[in-house]
Amino acid sequence: MAEVTAIYPGSFDPITNGHLDLIRRGSRLFDQLVIAVLTNLDKKPLFSVSERVEMLREVTKDVANVSVDTFGGLLVDYARRKGARALLRGVRAFSDYEYELQMALMNRKLEPALETVFLMPAESFAYISSRLVKEIVQHGGPVTGLVPPHVEERLRVKFSSEPARGQVGV
Ligand code: PNS
Repeated sequence: MAEVTAIYPGSFDPITNGHLDLIRRGSRLFDQLVIAVLTNLDKKPLFSVSERVEMLREVTKDVANVSVDTFGGLLVDYARRKGARALLRGVRAFSDYEYELQMALMNRKLEPALETVFLMPAESFAYISSRLVKEIVQHGGPVTGLVPPHVEERLRVKFSSEPARGQVGV
């Protein structure tokens, strides 16, 4: 059978232990897993694209069949260019479902040959989001266990160098 490449797209601002859990699960399911960072975010990200890519590479360096890339434009076009047959998305709670279903069905409409595969993170990570992690660090709270140590350090440095930063996006 041909190898199956899957794309795990997202903003990853920054990667959390929930994302990492999903990446490990996805890496066991697919021959190749490409983590694809969206470059043209609507909201202003905390970390630049290159910072997010660097963190993703650092924390996934022990997972052999995982690579990190960036994309702009439509996800289905990017998936086609990569020869991918699947998209990987995580569903944490019921609240994620509506948005994810809408996106999966729209992507299927745009590219019927591409399947979206949903995986659930371990229960212990089900409540983690990049937005909440940033909010906690911004107010000096602890995020140990919510993000990899490398990312925790990057968050501390970022917020200590940007004390006046206002809103935090997802
Ligand atoms: O981590 P996020 O922010 O929930 O990821 C959202 C993402 C990147 C998967 C989504 O915004 C996306 O695919 N954007 C690319 C543009 C696109 O293809 N839009 C149509 C989706 S139906």
